[in-house]
Amino acid sequence: MPAISLEGVRKSYSLAQVEFRALDDVSLSVEAGTIQGIIGFSGSGKTTLLRCISRLERVDAGRVVVDGADLAHLDGAALRIARRRLGIVFQQYHLLRSRTVAENVALPLELAGIGRTAIAARVGELLEWFGLNGKRDAYLSQLSGGQRQRVAIARALATKPAVLLSDEPTSALDAETTASVLETLQRVRDEMGITIILVTHELNAVRAICDKVAVLDHGRIVEQVSVPDLFLRPSSDAARRLLGLPNSPDYVRMLIGESKLPADSILLSLQLAGASAELPLLTQAARYFGIDLHVVHGEVGRLRDVPYGNLIVVARGEAGPIARAVKFLRENGAAVNPLDSHDGGNRA
Ligand SMILES: Nc1ncnc2c1ncn2[C@@H]1O[C@H](COP(=O)(O)OP(=O)(O)OP(=O)(O)O)[C@@H](O)[C@H]1O
Ligand SMILES: [Mg+2]
Repeated sequence: MPAISLEGVRKSYSLAQVEFRALDDVSLSVEAGTIQGIIGFSGSGKTTLLRCISRLERVDAGRVVVDGADLAHLDGAALRIARRRLGIVFQQYHLLRSRTVAENVALPLELAGIGRTAIAARVGELLEWFGLNGKRDAYLSQLSGGQRQRVAIARALATKPAVLLSDEPTSALDAETTASVLETLQRVRDEMGITIILVTHELNAVRAICDKVAVLDHGRIVEQVSVPDLFLRPSSDAARRLLGLPNSPDYVRMLIGESKLPADSILLSLQLAGASAELPLLTQAARYFGIDLHVVHGEVGRLRDVPYGNLIVVARGEAGPIARAVKFLRENGAAVNPLDSHDGGNRA
């Protein structure tokens, strides 16, 4: 059974009589014990999606089933109880300044009406697990960003939820602190068996800890794939742009700071993965066919031990040899797509 299942979720906002569809027919199934990433450009609907899952926001249509309960159609006491199966962490921590670390972690337990002794035991257990024992009586102003986020995660887990929703939990943190918070989330999944939804705009976070990732674009899920597939075979336009693999030649020219390319050149988008990324394919193609291949944008790296490259390349030479080079690259496992050009430069 999936830990979270969304079916046909719609949510609109009206501003000045104009209806705006923030979520449009969103369906998503998240397996228990996995870390599901959600990425998308600003305004694509990520926070709205989390707010709808947690019932901070009511959906206009569709089903939101969390750990077996349809939150979209619960109210009152039943909703309050069902919501304890969910923990939420935000970018800005949302911790109380007037309370100590231990008192912040205790808050959801107090709201749930748990007795003092049981609260003390649970808080002690969480502070120990999160390495916050030494900080139990500290106030927020005495904590680093990473410690605050760990307190926020501990508080979100106080009522032993099945699911943790986190909205950009690391975007206010530096790279090293980000890595340690991500590691904490991974341990939460591994050791507590909690299902996590991680909304982020940081591809590194997705690469580091997510199992699957959904790409939101204008309120729609345009891709729901395994993490390797996102990096090795992004299929949606939004995913490609998030990965820095734009489809528009004008945008690429802006990136590389050249408004016009030489007349005998074309822009190619090239994706290599696995064996093809281990071969010196570009050098070979250039040498065999007597053309120039110049990498102007992109990234190379390893993903769970598979080497890959996502590149934008300027190919310069005569049309025939360029076409043969493209054929050679494809025969050797590269995905090659000419970027359509408005000035007639596309000849591949
Ligand atoms: N309460 C609201 N009233 C009206 N419009 C809203 C409201 N909340 C969100 N929106 C609109 O819905 C769209 C999606 O917003 P949302 O905050 O979900 O985006 P996001 O993907 O989280 O963006 P970001 O990466 O900037 O956090 C935006 O166009 C936003 O202006
Ligand atoms: Mg947001």
